[in-house]
Amino acid sequence: AVRRAITGRIRDGRVVLSDLTMTDREIRDIGRICIVACGSSYHVGMVSKYNWERLLRRPVEVCLASEFRYCDPLVDDHSLVIFISQSGETIDTLAAMREAKRLGARVLSMNVVGSSIAREADDVLYTWAGPEIAVATTKAYSTQLVLMDLIALYLGDLLGTIEKTEYDTILHELEVLPEKLERVLASIEDVKYFASRYFNHDSIFFIGRNLDYAMGLEGSLKLKEISYIHSEAYASGELKHGTISLIEPGTLVVALGTYEPLFDKAMSNVVEVKARGAEVLALATEPFKEKMAHTADSVIAVPETHPVVQPSLGVVPLQLFAYYVALQRGCDIDKPRNLAKSVTVE
Ligand code: G6P
Repeated sequence: AVRRAITGRIRDGRVVLSDLTMTDREIRDIGRICIVACGSSYHVGMVSKYNWERLLRRPVEVCLASEFRYCDPLVDDHSLVIFISQSGETIDTLAAMREAKRLGARVLSMNVVGSSIAREADDVLYTWAGPEIAVATTKAYSTQLVLMDLIALYLGDLLGTIEKTEYDTILHELEVLPEKLERVLASIEDVKYFASRYFNHDSIFFIGRNLDYAMGLEGSLKLKEISYIHSEAYASGELKHGTISLIEPGTLVVALGTYEPLFDKAMSNVVEVKARGAEVLALATEPFKEKMAHTADSVIAVPETHPVVQPSLGVVPLQLFAYYVALQRGCDIDKPRNLAKSVTVE
């Protein structure tokens, strides 16, 4: 799915978004960027906020569609509002989009062909992920994320906010991402093993900083929605402001340390929760696996890539962890209780 989302959008070392109708002038005129979505699509927005602000040097706000639609949003005709919705039918996202259009914003959506949101948006970028059957999205999340990276490169190039070498590196890493993802998928034995070791925990915390925090939100959501284990994701720096009181001997903490610029900070948070008796399952990039293994109880490693692209690799073991934990617990993975694939009522 990721290969399909990328293919055709990279040509001769450049991002080509022929489906985008915004003119260069309109792009240069963007003052404010908002990303509006629900659920996993919102989490794609959370990752993209870090990446877009870094690459575009523009403030990017991420809003839950259910909040945006009623908050009298501060958007106008210099705003670009991006609506991410796999189904394109989520009622809150659709209503939020109508509100943004009413206020004069330029509206870009990302979804499947022929949906209500796609029909009403000014611009639509399709993920080409195909229908997704399971309630818990995985390929939609992954394709939305790479598409957001491609848009950031495209806009950053136009706005002159990305250095050429960085542009080239990120683009190359996106091109080789499908192979790296295959490597992650080929080494799932570790994940299966940890799932069988930890499936009977009652409560699991995901901690991380920056992109790891944003990625942890999705890891935690996948786990709770299909395995029914209570789970929360926290920015590691917030531990001291309350969360750490929840750590007791044996509590499982999934410590995310794939964002290399802050790896040492991630390590010190592992030390902190270990000191309170937590059992720590860590995620790190291959070059940092050994270092992490000195402190964490167990480590899953993923291939290294550019930090902007790293969450696309890191999220896969988290999705698989949720999957195998749910399998161990005998849950109906495709159709978790109380949830629907497409939420068309408020
Ligand atoms: C439901 C689904 C989630 C999805 C969310 C948003 O809650 O169960 O998997 O992330 O809706 O859906 P959308 O189609 O707007 O991305």
